[in-house]
Amino acid sequence: MDTYALLRLLNADEFRPGPELAEALGVSRASVSLALKSAAELGVEVHTVKGRGYRLARPIAWLDEAQVAQGLGPSVRYFDLKLFDEIDSTNTALLTEAHRGAPAGLVYAAERQTSGRGRRGRSWQGELGDALMFSLLWRFGLGVADLSGLSLAVGLAVARALEGLGVVDVRLKWPNDIVTSVGAKLGGILIEVAGEAHGPSSVVIGIGLNLHLSEQLRGGLDQAAESLALLGYSGDRNRLLAAVLAELAQLLPAFEQQGFAPLLPDWEARHAMQGAPARLLQPNGEVLEGTALGVAPDGALRFATAQGERRVHAGEVSLRRAL
Ligand code: BTN
Repeated sequence: MDTYALLRLLNADEFRPGPELAEALGVSRASVSLALKSAAELGVEVHTVKGRGYRLARPIAWLDEAQVAQGLGPSVRYFDLKLFDEIDSTNTALLTEAHRGAPAGLVYAAERQTSGRGRRGRSWQGELGDALMFSLLWRFGLGVADLSGLSLAVGLAVARALEGLGVVDVRLKWPNDIVTSVGAKLGGILIEVAGEAHGPSSVVIGIGLNLHLSEQLRGGLDQAAESLALLGYSGDRNRLLAAVLAELAQLLPAFEQQGFAPLLPDWEARHAMQGAPARLLQPNGEVLEGTALGVAPDGALRFATAQGERRVHAGEVSLRRAL
């Protein structure tokens, strides 16, 4: 029995009796009880009252294709959106489709990922209904070498989309985190590229954003994290997905034409660490002390050290505020 189908029949306002749910789904009452147990494993709290039935502890605003299409307006023609209840990782699945020749503009969005991935081999966790998790396949005539500023451009698209929805104080952390003004992570970007040095190239752009964060998930993360709810965004994920895709529809073709350079001032205006003392953690464990000066037209971080300015490429390094 499909737990997601059952959850979609529930809401947070009124109880629905077990027999009514069983009938609506064409299953036995025992199957309904079993599916409700799996709901708990998905992290969804369901209130049960004998004689009255079941009710969600908190409402879930499900991803909805029609709502995203409506939010996209004329940009809808760039995208083909596929929604999944559960998937290993939208990036992994879309990479497979990219290798099979899927067209640019294919978007996979999921309610839940069982193996969500972050940068540098980390995992990415989002709770059901509380995170926006999606990936977009895009194809460029550009070679892989010319895509170095892409993750910054995508971060800017996310920031602009949030600003358009009235969220203020969104900042960017090099190379591709979306953070609050005090540096707590609101979301991240994972870009995976396939192609030749001289082009063309295929790119899977994965974006994860926290709309709400439970204390449990927050406590289990190894870095300071925040949710858009804290910044006053109580809107749903469909509007947000549409807004980010609409920004990307503008920005990706512009990036293909002109690269990151014209976007640089806008990116630096939102840079969480612009001019701030910082530490650069290198893969060999070495820590470099310095100042984050800003970014270069190719997306490299401009980092001032006692020995002079260094240009750092994203790769495996990680930038932290100096303590
Ligand atoms: C990071 O901050 O390290 C990047 C996080 C990227 C997470 C998103 S969620 C949708 C897409 N699918 C994945 O497995 N990862 C990205």
